[in-house]
Amino acid sequence: MPEATVPLSLYIHWPFCLSKCPYCDFNSHVRDRIDHTHWRDALLREMEYWAQEAPKQPLVSIFFGGGTPSLMEPATVAALLERANDLWGITAATEITLEANPTSVEAARLADFRAAGVTRISMGIQSLRDADLQFLGRHHSVSEALAAFDVAQALFPRTSFDLIYARPGQTPAAWEAELREALTRADGHLSLYQLTIEPNTAFDTAYRKRLFTLPDEVTSEELFTLTQHIMESAGIPAYEVSNHARPGQECRHNLAYWQGDDYVGIGPGAHGRLTLPEGRIAWHTRKSPERWLSAVESLGHATEERLTLTPQERLEELLLMGLRLREGISRAAFRQKTGQEFPGALDPAKLASLTNAGFITLDDARLRATPKGMLVLNTVIGELVSG
Ligand SMILES: C[S@@+](CC[C@H](N)C(=O)[O-])C[C@H]1O[C@@H](n2cnc3c(N)ncnc32)[C@H](O)[C@@H]1O
Ligand code: SF4
Repeated sequence: MPEATVPLSLYIHWPFCLSKCPYCDFNSHVRDRIDHTHWRDALLREMEYWAQEAPKQPLVSIFFGGGTPSLMEPATVAALLERANDLWGITAATEITLEANPTSVEAARLADFRAAGVTRISMGIQSLRDADLQFLGRHHSVSEALAAFDVAQALFPRTSFDLIYARPGQTPAAWEAELREALTRADGHLSLYQLTIEPNTAFDTAYRKRLFTLPDEVTSEELFTLTQHIMESAGIPAYEVSNHARPGQECRHNLAYWQGDDYVGIGPGAHGRLTLPEGRIAWHTRKSPERWLSAVESLGHATEERLTLTPQERLEELLLMGLRLREGISRAAFRQKTGQEFPGALDPAKLASLTNAGFITLDDARLRATPKGMLVLNTVIGELVSG
């Protein structure tokens, strides 16, 4: 059994939705019938498989993501949590998040999820304008979503909701009004995503056919900066590009990913990272729900690819994830995880040019992207890790 040095989390993917939203490229599928007993048993089996490899230490976080995990049977969620507790341990400090869609059907089940042990709800409200919800292909209205969120707030210690902005025709003034409304309802955490057109989605086709347009680059940048400004003055600043929290309310699961900690991922298309004696391993499971299910039923797991990251890959992954965080990457964490130091691990010419151009800073404590760097983060990271 490897020594427990890196914090451990668990991700559970539920791949089903009632319908496919036109913008979404998550691993989500619509099925007429789902055999919940089979799915529960298979998720339990894959969890048990990874428990043989992963260090036995209390979980920092458990995250039910999707898809639409609020369509899981609460008894399935309860069974998974009970087994996770047996295998690793759930403590009072373990954050247990479930992603929920804000329909009345799901609101009615929230109490059961709370009773099962879920402590945090992340709700996909997406917009506070009915016309835009329709454009986004959502099946809930603004009032239904807010009613569901009220139920969540009454039941769970922590809540968050997602909004998608930079929608067609959205002006900065319109977004500001909507975001200010959102702030009157939010607790300590909000995820605010700019609409992106993902390959092979219905929006991809519609966008290519010019059925709608998106705000131009200048307006998008203005919308992003405005968002940062409003959230900062509300005391809920960005701790990552799209995630905002009051200090202490950051999603622990998100932090685990971005800080490069360990996580076991189970369910179709889930990813995992573990620090084992052989090195840092990375894997993902089969994406297709049916193939995943049959692999788990015959093998006990549905790993599609498993590899040991090279030291360079580990370093690049840490930069890729860590620079998304406002606080960046601490020298100490970088040293612990890679055995290397800043600036020695980086190309001096690239570091100098990105620093001089005002995209990143390196001080005694940490390497981080500046607000200017955050606007073009992918380019900055690409530059830093390119050979
Ligand atoms: C896995 S989904 C959320 C789960 C839940 N099924 C829902 O729809 O509420 C995570 C979030 O990513 C965001 N998202 C997904 N696709 C996006 C896109 N193309 N552009 C911007 N945000 C997107 C949405 O805000 C969504 O709530
Ligand atoms: S946005 Fe949520 S509900 Fe819509 S298809 Fe994606 S995962 Fe499913």
